[in-house]
Amino acid sequence: MPASMTVQLLMGLPGCLLVALLWKYFWASRRPANFPPGPPTRPFLGNLHQLPQSQAFLKFHEWSQTYGSIVGLKLGPQNVVILNGWKPVRDLLDKRGAIYSSRPDNHVGNDLICPDETHILLAPYGPGWRILRKTVQALLNVRAVDAMFPIQNAEASQTMHQLLHDPEGYYDHIRRYSTAVILSSVFGQRGKDFNSPKVRALYHAQEQFTSILAPGATPPVDAFPWLRYLPKSLAGWKEKAQTIRAEQRELYFSLMEETKARVANGAVTGCFMEEVLKDQEKAGLDDEHVAYLGGILMEAGSDTTASTLLSYLLGIISNPAALETARNELDGVCGTERSPTFDDLDKLPYLRACMIETLRWRPVAPGGIPHLLIQDDHYEGYHLPKGTIVFANAWSIHREQEEYSAGDDFRPERFLNNQFGAQGAEDQANDHRRATYSFGAGRRVCPGQRLAENLLMLNMAKITWGFDISGDRREIDWDVKTGYTDGFVFSPKRFPVNITARSDVHRDIFEREFEAQRVVLEKYGD
Ligand code: HEM
Repeated sequence: MPASMTVQLLMGLPGCLLVALLWKYFWASRRPANFPPGPPTRPFLGNLHQLPQSQAFLKFHEWSQTYGSIVGLKLGPQNVVILNGWKPVRDLLDKRGAIYSSRPDNHVGNDLICPDETHILLAPYGPGWRILRKTVQALLNVRAVDAMFPIQNAEASQTMHQLLHDPEGYYDHIRRYSTAVILSSVFGQRGKDFNSPKVRALYHAQEQFTSILAPGATPPVDAFPWLRYLPKSLAGWKEKAQTIRAEQRELYFSLMEETKARVANGAVTGCFMEEVLKDQEKAGLDDEHVAYLGGILMEAGSDTTASTLLSYLLGIISNPAALETARNELDGVCGTERSPTFDDLDKLPYLRACMIETLRWRPVAPGGIPHLLIQDDHYEGYHLPKGTIVFANAWSIHREQEEYSAGDDFRPERFLNNQFGAQGAEDQANDHRRATYSFGAGRRVCPGQRLAENLLMLNMAKITWGFDISGDRREIDWDVKTGYTDGFVFSPKRFPVNITARSDVHRDIFEREFEAQRVVLEKYGD
């Protein structure tokens, strides 16, 4: 072959590859045949250019109004389906869980920061995830969770005490509560102040982790996997991921080692980690998986619970009549002898309605956590190809117009009249319907729901019983685009609220109860 031809061929090869690649992405960004309806796509981008960097659920909601309860999107070559109604969520995620329970590729989370399937929330559906899930479910079953009542109650008493003495600091007191309760329930350790090193370290590690996983924080390495092979000099995010991994490991390992040392000294609290360590070998978990399991329970449980409690305050400020009704119910059960405890929670149907309404009104993962379909499927005449990412979009599910009147308003009564909060009669068609989609659905549904509901109910009960809560509604930013954070967990930003004891009697009871609970707190290293 003449030399000039060889050069031409070599020069031509990369060009051909590029054309082939462009051709592939051009076709891949088109909507597959019989895919659910959605907004028009652009070559290569699909709908990527229409998706906002933050609060994508609001865009999902807008599309649901035009295209209905099942919307198909193309994010570059990636197929995405948004489920905006409870029926498709029940039919697909709940009833066909065997094929709708994996997670999408997450190179940064799963390969760089938490390799070897240590992160239960991100792990693909398979044997590794199954071991973690089984362990977590055993830890978070009703009996195990309810056995932690004493420390959860003691921490709630501390929170009421803090609200009495420093009401302006309400935001941090509530966030401390949820972190401290999970810290004590999981690791048997105490997070006494919001500024205590462990609480701060947990928040810092979590903020770093969620910020690098946020859309736009790294190039789209999952949609365009070749980006993974960029050298470190061109990919600063790789070094950042390493730093986050180091910080996370150090924290989670130190928490686990401290628990081991405490148990070795005979100071047993009955925390979840003690159970895991006891059965570690039998469960087939090495130290890395045990440490991460504990750490991820902290991550998954604390901000979510705090955010819901803060949204409850906003809910009752928006609807003072609901506060009044909840308080009358509590007064009927507790009088002015004592503040509510876990034993009272089953006697408070209105307060329970307030809790479910808060979860409906302001779900903490409003767009849902992505599930991955692992096999071709058909539903309602649509073809859903293997590899499609599926979102159960709680924001829209909780606002279906034919189900919820005034869906943007906080109206707990709707859950008194109907267990699903819906209008109309409850019938067989509601079979397997969930009262709330805030905890997700299917085989990946939140395993912490029981624990979360206990913590929410107890704190909502104590706050509502003991405090006057009010705010100037004109001073509060009610627009979720600006009044809420747009991170991994959707949470209210600080808002002006007045929290004062209802009377001296209520104040004295909170003071007395906190003193009495000190013995419980001391057990956890107060
Ligand atoms: C109000 C509080 C909470 C809310 C709203 C919430 C919500 C969620 C949601 C939406 C998911 C994803 C479900 C899906 O993929 O369909 C999830 C997963 C998870 N949650 Fe929660 N959660 C809360 C509290 C907790 C607590 C207290 C814990 C434990 C301490 C916990 C542990 C987990 C774990 C381990 C997963 C991963 C499950 C898996 O992928 O298999 N959560 N949660």
